[in-house]
Amino acid sequence: MGAALGVRLAGIKAAPLVRPQPRGAQVAPRKLVAGNWKMHGLSADIAEIEAIAAASRRFAGVDVALCVPAILIERASRAVPGFPIGGQDVHHSDEGAHTGCTSARMLLDAGAALTIVGHSERRDSQRESDSEVKAKAEAALACGLGVILCVGERLELRDSGAAVSTVLGQLDGSLPDRSNAEAELAIAYEPVWAIGTGKVPTASEIAEMHAAIRDRLTQRYGRQGEQVRILYGGSVKPSNAGEIFAVPNVDGALVGGASLKAADFLPIVAAAADHSG
Ligand code: PGA
Repeated sequence: MGAALGVRLAGIKAAPLVRPQPRGAQVAPRKLVAGNWKMHGLSADIAEIEAIAAASRRFAGVDVALCVPAILIERASRAVPGFPIGGQDVHHSDEGAHTGCTSARMLLDAGAALTIVGHSERRDSQRESDSEVKAKAEAALACGLGVILCVGERLELRDSGAAVSTVLGQLDGSLPDRSNAEAELAIAYEPVWAIGTGKVPTASEIAEMHAAIRDRLTQRYGRQGEQVRILYGGSVKPSNAGEIFAVPNVDGALVGGASLKAADFLPIVAAAADHSG
């Protein structure tokens, strides 16, 4: 298990990201709602993190996490013990001459329980390839961190009918090889054209993509692929969260702008609770 390996390697233990329930006719999977603060947040915003963590405890059936700037992880995780704080990126190496980068052990040491990898803003601005994203995911999992691995198509690819093939290609190149990946891995489907734009795919477009991702996960990991949570991300807001969470194979959300304030984020968590179990 990655967590055990991480403890052995690092001598420190990540706060557990609660595991999904088995998917089946009777038991619906727990939803995961993760905030992505991107390059937002200063010390003064720890109070907002405390407010989100405290209120999230009311929604026992939903896993909630906040992925904050690396420099805030330690303060945030000390402020909200037991609440999962995550990073937004990780380097694939354990250590070395990589100026400005952060390793998985550093994230863990700072108190992180998980990290995002492969966000489209990094795939674009840092030219991250699928194979690099895969290496980052494997490094994080090996250290005992949960991983939210992002995929998503650009608008021109959706317009040309290549959305599903593009996303499946990204998965083929970036899914970790570890056979127990389902325990700590979530996929975030984030159409690039929906991020920060207020545009959202239709429910049937989300359903089609999430079903295709689910098929790929079960091809890759067998029945355990059923337990990998597939999050939707891109302009999720209190006003559309309920409709999105009702779509089959939507096991939660990765939320950017609407995760910065408890007043926006908590109604999204509440909507996930309404559609859990
Ligand atoms: P958004 O960002 O909710 O602001 O669209 C989502 C993301 O990029 O993870």
